[in-house]
Amino acid sequence: MHKKLFIPGPTEVREEILKAQGQWMIGHRSKEFGELNKRCVENTKQILGTKNYLFWFTSSGTGCMEGALRNVVTGKILHTVNGAFSDRWFKISKACGKSASSIAAEWGKAIKPEMVDAELAKGGYQALTITQNETSTGVRNPIEAIAKLVRAKYPDVLILVDAVSGLMGDWFEIDALGLDVVVASSQKAVALPPGLAVSIVSQRALDKCRTVTDRGYYFDYDAMLKRYEKDFQTPTTPAVSLFWALDLELDHILKEGMQNRYQRHLEMAKFTRDWAAKYFKVFPEPGYESVTLTTVANTRNVVIKDLNGELGKRGMQISNGYGDLKEKTFRIAHMGDLTMADMKEVTAAIVDVLKL
Ligand SMILES: Cc1ncc(COP(=O)(O)O)c(C=O)c1O
Repeated sequence: MHKKLFIPGPTEVREEILKAQGQWMIGHRSKEFGELNKRCVENTKQILGTKNYLFWFTSSGTGCMEGALRNVVTGKILHTVNGAFSDRWFKISKACGKSASSIAAEWGKAIKPEMVDAELAKGGYQALTITQNETSTGVRNPIEAIAKLVRAKYPDVLILVDAVSGLMGDWFEIDALGLDVVVASSQKAVALPPGLAVSIVSQRALDKCRTVTDRGYYFDYDAMLKRYEKDFQTPTTPAVSLFWALDLELDHILKEGMQNRYQRHLEMAKFTRDWAAKYFKVFPEPGYESVTLTTVANTRNVVIKDLNGELGKRGMQISNGYGDLKEKTFRIAHMGDLTMADMKEVTAAIVDVLKL
């Protein structure tokens, strides 16, 4: 039975997109694949309003997080940690042997510009990571304010952004904020199956990458760009079927218009948050709630597994909390191609199941 996914990844994928993957295979060294990839790259840039370099990798988002570190980080890096995924980037840094340190906020709270300022003021940092949308807690970090501060006071510090669960649902300016690397996965607000991830790279990040001799192989931005410049193919075998799905979804997003898409996400977020506040409590710090998912404090001690079992019978699935928050919270995603009607349906079903 099909269960509509209200989990923060993989998100619900429209049937048309699923079917697009079923075409007869083509060789990735064909002109046809080069054209497909070129269209995907150019349409993604248009949707995001960026003139930066943009690479679609066959990988999940974590690969691109590691890739960003390997391509551009040679000195001290500061990780801002307020949940499981921002902590993951810090762990990846250590696993890659980087000189990494972190500042942390309690789960559910946002990273504030003053915290970043106080640490960067100590000097010596080459790069900073920010998780735009911390999916484990449902907190949207104030990326605009942090980036403005860093660009004004620490112009040489590279800003690396994990926008895995925000990109193409939430909105932020990539070029105007001076973000050096932004990474995201296909299975979140892009509303595709898992398997592709994007890296959006500034000129100075690319220049930096070209000076790094041990930047690795698979996620090498310069190698990717050289291949794009030659024939728009990829250095290694891409997930061709997913590119068909991507191509079709990007067309859909262009037709919807990114700003309309963003407004739809804002509307779904507000509705879901108001619902959560009425029946439970919204978990994140007020003013920093995610646009793409709502984390609900489980004030009624609902057994989430049982609730999901009942929702499953009605063809829907939500998510429990992440890690330590497993039973203390639950998460309802409103990202990708979900609509207000979907949000009304799932919240009404929860009210009905729990007899609220
Ligand atoms: C904010 C954030 N960063 C990183 C990741 C990891 O991405 P992936 O699972 O595509 O490797 C996730 C996955 O949920 C995420 O939500």
